[in-house]
Amino acid sequence: MMKLAIIGTGYVGLTTGTCFAEVGHRVICVDNNAQKVVALQQGEIPIFEPELEQLIVSNVAAGRLSFTMDIAEAVRLSDVIFIAVPTPPLEDGSVDLSYIESVSCTVAELITPEMGYRVIVDKSTVPVSTGSKVLQVLQRYSSSGVDVDVVSNPEFLREGCAVDDLLNPDRIVVGSDSARALDVMRRIYQPFSAPMVETDLASAELIKHAANSFLAMKISYINSVAAVCEAAGADVEQVALGIGMDKRIQRHFLNAGLGYGGSCFPKDVKGFIHVAEQLGSPMTILHEVENVNERQLARFLNRIREKMWILGHKRIAVWGLAFKQNTDDVRESVSIKLIKQLCDEGAIVSAYDPAARITGAAALEGYDVNITEDMYSCLKGAELLIIGTEWKEFAQANFSRVSELLHLPLVYDGRNILHGENVTAAGLEYHSIGRKTMMPKS
Ligand code: UDX
Ligand code: UDX
Repeated sequence: MMKLAIIGTGYVGLTTGTCFAEVGHRVICVDNNAQKVVALQQGEIPIFEPELEQLIVSNVAAGRLSFTMDIAEAVRLSDVIFIAVPTPPLEDGSVDLSYIESVSCTVAELITPEMGYRVIVDKSTVPVSTGSKVLQVLQRYSSSGVDVDVVSNPEFLREGCAVDDLLNPDRIVVGSDSARALDVMRRIYQPFSAPMVETDLASAELIKHAANSFLAMKISYINSVAAVCEAAGADVEQVALGIGMDKRIQRHFLNAGLGYGGSCFPKDVKGFIHVAEQLGSPMTILHEVENVNERQLARFLNRIREKMWILGHKRIAVWGLAFKQNTDDVRESVSIKLIKQLCDEGAIVSAYDPAARITGAAALEGYDVNITEDMYSCLKGAELLIIGTEWKEFAQANFSRVSELLHLPLVYDGRNILHGENVTAAGLEYHSIGRKTMMPKS
């Protein structure tokens, strides 16, 4: 059992801290948002993430997990301090490291030589060389004689399946220039069966940016192929299957759609572009990854305009607000962008999401969108239906009912999640990404 503190109890900090408690460590989660901490102390979970709530409840009950605003106590009581505060993008694409810097300063002022050895671990996604800056801050602002090392331990959790990704990761990456700190990290991850990749500090930081950018590149690659498929009358799903069976390529993250969103890929691609440029080794390939991602929504809307002509005053139903399935997170959600564009063109939009109705409404503040409590009332009066998020339950909808409620027999699936046969059997036209349009059966 190790004594751990996690500073920043957001998506990453909360799920990571809970999973560390689940494998037996004692974890104190710290946050400077009083409302969030009080809610967590009362057993209210601020995010929708499958399996998380029951793990929090059981680990709090077992005395292994607690929540506080008291960073000083958490630092005093913990051997290892993880930093999981936000690293949002700035206007110029660089990463805002001010939260990391201010937490590092606070920790530096709190640790004393009497506390003994402390390891500070960066969990947040940061540009390469941030860890060495954190170490400088610790050396600069701590009292003399403190014994401290810095580690980079990037997370690879996907929202919506974060608990499983954390408890059963493909690999664990830890980077440090201190052998002693790496030994501490081995002890923390000893209960996990995944292989551990041990690197120097800078390489671990780079692994995170390079991994997320590579995955974003896979998505943009298949979306480019999807555009060619549309032009050639081919089927991108068959192409993805055919290329994905090559073990060197793999089928994962080759799902064509409206493009990637979320709090990570857009920010991390930008962050990697920026840091590479600063280092004089531009990752020019990533500019095109971004371009393709932007074009994807524009291409989709053009196809709808081709059919509907003018979108102003058209009643349009959108299923999906979250940036992906199984989450209530709408940060950088392509579906939210789509809805905003439809509204800007004067369309009358109603929307439904299984989990992101409240977060979606907040993201759409100022836009007149009717967010409904169920998927069918969203369709009342609508001329067409657009799927913006890949929720599996959309595929299980009753399309006969959909067909009765829609004014025109038009379904545009921006995530290739529906079964075309079910849609067309209900008398609806089925438009998707990178595939031929399927016409109604009756
Ligand atoms: C994290 C990482 O920080 C980011 O680098 C990574 O790429 C994605 O995951 P996330 O957990 O999604 O971000 O952020 P968020 O849900 O916004 O949570 C951050 C938490 O830190 C919030 O609860 C916020 O209140 C807290 N915080 C922020 C602090 O406790 N102290 C601060 O100084 C700033
Ligand atoms: C991502 C990484 O997967 C994870 O390893 C990292 O640590 C954090 O960022 P996350 O953003 O939670 O996770 O979700 P992810 O499943 O990667 O999806 C990101 C976006 O890409 C979503 O908008 C999703 O709809 C889109 N996507 C994903 C596709 O368009 N096609 C795919 O094949 C996969």
